[in-house]
Amino acid sequence: MSDHAYSAAERTAIYRAIGERRDMRHFAGGTVAPELLGRLLAAAHQAPSVGLMQPWRFIRITRRELRGRIQALVEEERVRTAEALGERADEFMKLKVEGISDCAEVLVAALMDNREPHIFGRRTLPEMDLASLACAIQNMWLAARAEGLGLGWVSLFDPQALGALLGMPAGAKPVAVLCLGPVTEFYAQPMLVQENWAEERPLSDMLFENQWGERP
Ligand SMILES: Cc1cc2nc3c(=O)[nH]c(=O)nc-3n(C[C@H](O)[C@H](O)[C@H](O)COP(=O)(O)O)c2cc1C
Repeated sequence: MSDHAYSAAERTAIYRAIGERRDMRHFAGGTVAPELLGRLLAAAHQAPSVGLMQPWRFIRITRRELRGRIQALVEEERVRTAEALGERADEFMKLKVEGISDCAEVLVAALMDNREPHIFGRRTLPEMDLASLACAIQNMWLAARAEGLGLGWVSLFDPQALGALLGMPAGAKPVAVLCLGPVTEFYAQPMLVQENWAEERPLSDMLFENQWGERP
């Protein structure tokens, strides 16, 4: 064991948050105390980022009418997604894919504008800005689970329409509508597994040695 390791209880807590984090779409209303919201945003802001670019921007939605307009955009895209799915359309329409109206807080996570000058780590892989933003959201997701709050990542929207609605400058791009707040209970498994939409595959399917497809 490394001298730098956390205590056994702390390690258990870290792995517990990772294992019990769920994408939540059912919320119990309520509120998130300002200090707690501040802790979650600070957790997001401590994420790693390519070239220390910190490309994340968060817009807290506090106007109820604006929340409704965001939900309308998600609903439009939900219908378009169902159409694109073809034979699974009806099954998809039965899934709950967002909790915008019943969550305590809605945050829109976006990539900043003017990203082109940032080439450290992005010259060949420009999408590393998005990877960095995803790290920030994951930090918030895990911290929220530890605090007993649910968080759901909604990506069913037209980014141009949402960017325009929130007054984003050209080049900025919304990536997630985050639904955050108290829940009655956390799903025991990913909701898409519970609803028989998808199956989880084991780690062993994803792990190769030396060459793609070669099993350890
Ligand atoms: C990048 C990203 C986008 C997602 N977008 C949506 C979404 O639009 N609607 C939704 O219901 N779930 C969305 N999810 C949640 C996934 O469906 C969920 O993470 C997956 O089913 C595994 O469940 P778990 O997060 O509870 O482990 C998204 C997750 C990620 C990482």
